[in-house]
Amino acid sequence: MSKKASAPVTGKDFDKAYNAPITFWGDVRIPKELEELIKTNNPKTSLELGCGLGRFSTYMAEQGIKATGVDFSSVAVEKAKKRVANSEHKPTFLEGDVTNLEMLNEQFDVSFDIGCFHCLDEEGQRKYVSEVSRLLKPGASLLIWAMDSSPSDIRITPDYIAKTFENRFQLVNSRFSRRRIIASHWYWLVRI
Ligand SMILES: C[S@@+](CC[C@H](N)C(=O)[O-])C[C@H]1O[C@@H](n2cnc3c(N)ncnc32)[C@H](O)[C@@H]1O
Repeated sequence: MSKKASAPVTGKDFDKAYNAPITFWGDVRIPKELEELIKTNNPKTSLELGCGLGRFSTYMAEQGIKATGVDFSSVAVEKAKKRVANSEHKPTFLEGDVTNLEMLNEQFDVSFDIGCFHCLDEEGQRKYVSEVSRLLKPGASLLIWAMDSSPSDIRITPDYIAKTFENRFQLVNSRFSRRRIIASHWYWLVRI
């Protein structure tokens, strides 16, 4: 897979990034899109793909949702677990690759991904679609934020997302974003 030197892609790249005191993507405010995902779907369960330090799944758990976050960086998952060790509302944080989530068998009400899908190459994206399809209930929502230019040099556009997820998900909305100054999109998909 071709890869831009500066962008982390592998688990080792991300372990290194998470061993630093702060990551450049940070984990600051909760995106309004995530708040809307809860308001619109009123989910009982959520699955976060590429949860990093777990800020967003922790927010879901604080809203009373049974939240699960998966990330392939063991460093991130350990830090995420430590951060919530004394919280009343704890998400479940699991170390795992979003292209192979065989440790999960339940079906979730919603899923979200803030910055993970664009890390994958085409084969990884195909496996991701297959796994997320298996793990979401029919009619469940999937919210993705992805950069327009991926680290593996794939141009991610609404048409590209619609095509990549076709037959499994319907792309119901997309919106251009400058989140973190990066040309990117929010995508709203529904499991068919
Ligand atoms: C840009 S970070 C975003 C983390 C978090 N969503 C946030 O916004 O703070 C992307 C995350 O996806 C994870 N990731 C990338 N590829 C992955 C894969 N194949 N399986 C699991 N996690 C992956 C990385 O370890 C990293 O934590």
